[in-house]
Amino acid sequence: MEKIESHIHSYLRTVEWKDNKVVLIDQTKLPNELVFVEYDDFNQVADAIRTLVVRGAPAIGVSGAFGLALAALQSKGSTKEELISDLEKAKKILFETRPTAVNLGWGLDRIMKIANAGISVDQIKESVISEAKKMAEDDIKINKTMGKNGSVLFDDNDTIMTHCNAGALATVAYGTALGVIRAIKESGKNIKVIATETRPVQQGSRLTAFELKHDGFDVSLIPDTAVGYTMANGLVNKVIVGADRIVRTGHVFNKIGTYQVATMAKQHQIPFYVAAPLSTFDMKTNAKDVIIEMRNGSEVTGIGDKKTAPDGIGVINPAFDVTPPELITGIITEKGIAKPPFEESIKKLFEDT
Ligand code: MRU
Repeated sequence: MEKIESHIHSYLRTVEWKDNKVVLIDQTKLPNELVFVEYDDFNQVADAIRTLVVRGAPAIGVSGAFGLALAALQSKGSTKEELISDLEKAKKILFETRPTAVNLGWGLDRIMKIANAGISVDQIKESVISEAKKMAEDDIKINKTMGKNGSVLFDDNDTIMTHCNAGALATVAYGTALGVIRAIKESGKNIKVIATETRPVQQGSRLTAFELKHDGFDVSLIPDTAVGYTMANGLVNKVIVGADRIVRTGHVFNKIGTYQVATMAKQHQIPFYVAAPLSTFDMKTNAKDVIIEMRNGSEVTGIGDKKTAPDGIGVINPAFDVTPPELITGIITEKGIAKPPFEESIKKLFEDT
């Protein structure tokens, strides 16, 4: 693994394929250092997803696809069957890194479909790489379309709260919820953003605050515990978040704490929006069957390297929670905005595809 500082674009580019390697922004180093890591082994990509070097549903979907592209290059198989068998093994390792975001499985399946349709070993390797590259470019286009679709829901002088990081750093570039925020600004409206800190891993303070400040937004940071205060005191007009998985009933799985923000927004009649591409929808699984990732207790008993809890304390550390549809005003996608009743409006998004 190598650290490089020469991959800087004029915008934040989280995931990239360069010279047959995967290049990622190392998000564990933010906000203190903007460094890039390069991988030529799919096992390194799996580790990067597991350890949150790369995180955010669309970003891990595309990283998983690039991981499979590396696995194809690493394979010593001389027949199609041998190559597919190597890819299946790599897919399993990549898939098991994080269970909740549906984009990871979606990205891996899309690459396997291309591989299975291929004929020769060389042609499969080539087509897998070009499909993963296409997925990365599509992600940016989709985010921009979603941004435009969502921007009409926001007004000049709005102050918008967001939770976790659903920005350029959670996608290939531009972002989902923060993509909408970018598009609002690009449409000429003046807006302010409030970012929640998002304990335990602080994607809000480390990533959203960094990203929005980097791109010149008026952003203020609050501790998660100040959500009620800011809403009760009229400091927030609207909320927008991303999603890791949305099921057909409109239940939204997103970063732990999203449910609390949505409940508080309902209490104060503040519109609560979700922005997510169609690749984040899971039309097959029931909400009660979705696996919520439980992460290591050390994320809660300390902040960074500093211990903030007594040794031996029991910890409950779910990475995601579920926001029920009755708390959601609208779900913004690249195909338009789904409004309640969500079961019908979500179905329609897919019928029109
Ligand atoms: O644990 P993380 O940082 O991967 O969780 C990310 C989130 O919950 C994001 O809000 C979600 O993936 C939306 S990303 C556009």
